[in-house]
Amino acid sequence: MIKININASRNYDVYIGSGLINETGALIRQIAPDSKILVITDDTVYSLYGERVISVLKDSGYQTDCFVFPHGEQSKNLETYGRILEYMSRAGMDRKDCVLALGGGVTGDLTGFAAATYQRGIGFIQMPTTLLAAVDSSVGGKTAVDLKTGKNQVGCFYQPMMVICDTDLLATLPSEQYACGCAEIIKYAVIKDEQLFNRIFETPVSDQLENVIADCVSIKREYVLEDEFDRGARMALNFGHTFGHAIEALSGYNILHGQAVAAGMAIITRSAYNKNICDKTSLDRLMEILEKYGLPAVTDFSPEKLAEVAISDKKASGDAITIVVPETIGRYRLEKIKKADLISWIG
Ligand SMILES: NC(=O)c1ccc[n+]([C@@H]2O[C@H](COP(=O)([O-])OP(=O)(O)OC[C@H]3O[C@@H](n4cnc5c(N)ncnc54)[C@H](O)[C@@H]3O)[C@@H](O)[C@H]2O)c1
Repeated sequence: MIKININASRNYDVYIGSGLINETGALIRQIAPDSKILVITDDTVYSLYGERVISVLKDSGYQTDCFVFPHGEQSKNLETYGRILEYMSRAGMDRKDCVLALGGGVTGDLTGFAAATYQRGIGFIQMPTTLLAAVDSSVGGKTAVDLKTGKNQVGCFYQPMMVICDTDLLATLPSEQYACGCAEIIKYAVIKDEQLFNRIFETPVSDQLENVIADCVSIKREYVLEDEFDRGARMALNFGHTFGHAIEALSGYNILHGQAVAAGMAIITRSAYNKNICDKTSLDRLMEILEKYGLPAVTDFSPEKLAEVAISDKKASGDAITIVVPETIGRYRLEKIKKADLISWIG
């Protein structure tokens, strides 16, 4: 087991390892010995791991309850959020109690936002079950729900009290969901860690899961500690996301987040190479690793469409947009591009 401490506005530990599901009660006892625990999860994850987690918590003496919602991004909305709050209220939960998000990024974002706002904040534990949630969304405290007008339009920063990542739970992930997590891992490696890039280039992530997740969490930790509220440095974690989000939106969310981010990273890196910002070897290696992990490097959407959607994103204010651009594997720079020049930049 690997333990990583994150000393942000809340100080918490991230536990990563095989078999941790059996330790859930004992781990939570360290930080919330007298809480009632509401497990929040989607129907797919509930059917795989819900009863197991609840029984481990009960065996540790916890009073436990469970809220299950239909899986998928379409549940990450105000309606599900409202239903969770009503459920917590009817169950008589108060500020000494906890919610445990058992699932992927959708469950984590939704549960975190409910935890942050119910009675102005109750205990919140993350138990990621997707690779994407393990390496990214379970750490760092961003919570959100979507509006009909766009993704993650309502939310807040609210750090969890603990993250428990049992790597065994990732074994049941469908391959395309697994690949989406790999896209985020490649993102971390390209912006910050050439050694990690080389390792996942040579050896599949699945053969070194615990260490790779720990490396990614450590990289994310650096950015969260420097810029918890996402006003500057944390922007680096958006590598591939500017056009990734555009691809996701243009596809009506039929293209998965990680697949879209992969294509977004390829688009930016190709443009960076054409502008002599990034070297050819780095571009070639990125293309090769995306192929190895079954991730796309191209999109059918035109530069005009991509630019139009990217410009309307909530993060693109003023007349320029800031893009994370790799210079080589392991190093990036931020490029401020005038919105009017964006099409030609990626065209
Ligand atoms: N808060 C953040 O910092 C942050 C960062 C990145 C992404 N996100 C958000 O995360 C969400 C995407 O996360 P995701 O890809 O984990 O989506 P998800 O939570 O919808 O999970 C993907 C699918 O995998 C299923 N699943 C989960 N665990 C499983 C398992 N162990 N075995 C089999 N199936 C399993 C789920 O039921 C779901 O159908 C988006 O809403 C995105 O906005 C948030």
